[in-house]
Amino acid sequence: MLEVTHNELNEICDALESRLGIRFHHYARASLKRRIERFINLKNRKPDSLIKEIKKSSDYAQQVVNAITVNVTEMFRNPEFFAAMQKEVFPHFQKAESISCWHAGCSSGEEVYSLAILLQEHGLLKKSKLTGWDLNPEMIAKAQRGSISERQLNAFLDAYFLANGQSHLQDYFTTRSGVSFLHPEIIQSCCFEAGNILNMKNPEDFDMILCRNTLIYFDLALQDEVVKVFYENLKPGGFLCLGEKESIRFTSFANRFEELDPVNKIFQKRIDDDVE
Ligand SMILES: C[S@@+](CC[C@H](N)C(=O)[O-])C[C@H]1O[C@@H](n2cnc3c(N)ncnc32)[C@H](O)[C@@H]1O
Repeated sequence: MLEVTHNELNEICDALESRLGIRFHHYARASLKRRIERFINLKNRKPDSLIKEIKKSSDYAQQVVNAITVNVTEMFRNPEFFAAMQKEVFPHFQKAESISCWHAGCSSGEEVYSLAILLQEHGLLKKSKLTGWDLNPEMIAKAQRGSISERQLNAFLDAYFLANGQSHLQDYFTTRSGVSFLHPEIIQSCCFEAGNILNMKNPEDFDMILCRNTLIYFDLALQDEVVKVFYENLKPGGFLCLGEKESIRFTSFANRFEELDPVNKIFQKRIDDDVE
């Protein structure tokens, strides 16, 4: 079993940063080490040869990134959050001319499609644009296909119900030979791109940003930078939604948001506030 030392892990992070501009130094160390070790064992490569290869080729560096990102996701994950969002956020959207949402760290798109379905049920989807970004282009390609296995779909039925879904989740899919395809009217409001959260530059463009179950992989310095990006890209009064174990409490932006729902981690950007 091949292992990576502390110094080798630092060198791998340096090499990835100079190749792709992604700063894995600020990612949770234990999970990063585990995933790099799994990759080198699978490929039967020593750490020094991995480092050389990353330095030589951006494609190879991207393969490493794809292997180390944690992409676990579900439709209507933590359904109580989706129920709370409909109650607390959707009423603000009723009068808006358009609604723009960004899923930062969208993985294979299940969270984006969950939101799109609920917006549809509230008559809001036609004026909405949902943008999903992820570091991992393989996940983005999967999200763009808009299909899941029938088995997965069946596993999400309870969560949809608990999220206060108003119909039957199956009604939004057509299933053939064990594959369930999302209907085009849901897919067409969603667009997916491979990108690093830190590179978003649409100042005050978004009505809502969801970044759920992603901040937990970042150290406090990176969380602070990322929340600054969210702050700058949200409209005044816009909403920020985090995962159940995440918070902005320890970032320098804590006072720039109202805690609208502390349990379901829904925050609202204060209206008359500017970043110095
Ligand atoms: C655990 S998944 C969460 C997916 C979804 N938000 C959910 O809660 O089900 C975290 C995702 O964040 C992505 N990610 C990590 N760092 C990122 C960054 N700097 N920019 C964009 N995506 C990132 C990972 O590739 C991964 O797909």
